[in-house]
Amino acid sequence: MREYSIAAIPADGIGPEVIAAGTTVLAALERRDGGLKFNIENFDWGSDYYKKHGVMMPADGLSRLKKFDAIYFGAVGAPDVPDHITLWGLRLPICQGFDQYANVRPTKILPGITSPLRQCGPGDLDWVIVRENSEGEYSGHGGRAHRGLPEEVGTEVAIFTRVGVTRIMRYAFRLARSRPRKFLTVVTKSNAQRHGMVMWDEIAAEVAEEFPDVTWDKMLVDAMTVRMTLNPRSLDTIVATNLHADILSDLAGALAGSLGVAPTGNIDPERRFPSMFEPIHGSAFDITGKGIANPVATFWTAAQMLDHLGEAEASARLMRAVERVTGSGILTPDVGGTATTKDVTDAVIDAIHSSN
Ligand code: NAI
Ligand code: MG
Repeated sequence: MREYSIAAIPADGIGPEVIAAGTTVLAALERRDGGLKFNIENFDWGSDYYKKHGVMMPADGLSRLKKFDAIYFGAVGAPDVPDHITLWGLRLPICQGFDQYANVRPTKILPGITSPLRQCGPGDLDWVIVRENSEGEYSGHGGRAHRGLPEEVGTEVAIFTRVGVTRIMRYAFRLARSRPRKFLTVVTKSNAQRHGMVMWDEIAAEVAEEFPDVTWDKMLVDAMTVRMTLNPRSLDTIVATNLHADILSDLAGALAGSLGVAPTGNIDPERRFPSMFEPIHGSAFDITGKGIANPVATFWTAAQMLDHLGEAEASARLMRAVERVTGSGILTPDVGGTATTKDVTDAVIDAIHSSN
């Protein structure tokens, strides 16, 4: 038996709805395979936990997660708790504490889903964005002084280290090499930001020497938004800083049809710690409890998790099932359908059982 221990942290809003759907799909994969077993433990951390205990997770949270093979995460964020508390209280401590420095965001147009781009269908947009996930603009460096006074100052300092940039660049080149086109686009803003971003460009050129079989090019982040929109076929694997890739991947999600289908993996490539898999979207208060959250992003990220665990066959089976279901028009309202979360989940489970 190939057994994996998974820590599920559904957290807030639609998080519990989509993670519950994901858990039943993993169970279907177990039944379909026979040799596969997931031992899933649920953690009730998040904003409700915060309202009771004053913290988003207990002090020993990370040490309790450490023994798992992977973390399956929903979303954080509540209308009555400030976003910097929910984010810095749960998601970021896991990403940073477990040094999940590669944030990997695949984007493609699934069958049956319409891109807002005219004449752009399945096959025309198939990207993976690699986001540096441990430093850069989100390192938490900076401060405030003279609060409330006219001379108040706030600084937000971006930190780029040679170690940090080199390791994300190597990860991105390796990923580009594993994809059919073997093509990487390195994004910066090295015309205006002339220190860290110029170092980023220099390190990209150095690491490129180690990957002679990968073709690469460079883009400034503002021009990149134009290229993504006007010439999506010209891109494949993309690497960018924490902030730039955060923004570009929301654009990518929108161009692929909906945030409700976009997945992400927060990966420790050295496998010292568990990696964390989650939908890109947040807790979506506006549709919480209505039973219409799109579970596709949460299924797709489960496929990323299976790949990471070495279960490539189960991963491919799950993605085939998802594409069969979206292609047959069983879609939630965010992607133009009338199906519920449960309808989509049941259809994916059926497709898993009827596939070869
Ligand atoms: P959001 O992603 O929660 O929602 C944006 C829009 O997309 C909403 O209209 C929502 O209904 C829709 N949407 C999102 N996921 C969907 C799904 N699976 N199916 C159908 N529709 C979906 O972003 P928003 O509204 O800006 O933030 C809400 C809360 O979530 C905030 O507290 C924010 O801080 C938090 N957040 C958390 C993230 C995380 O946990 N990784 C990421 C983004 C936001
Ligand atoms: Mg974002």
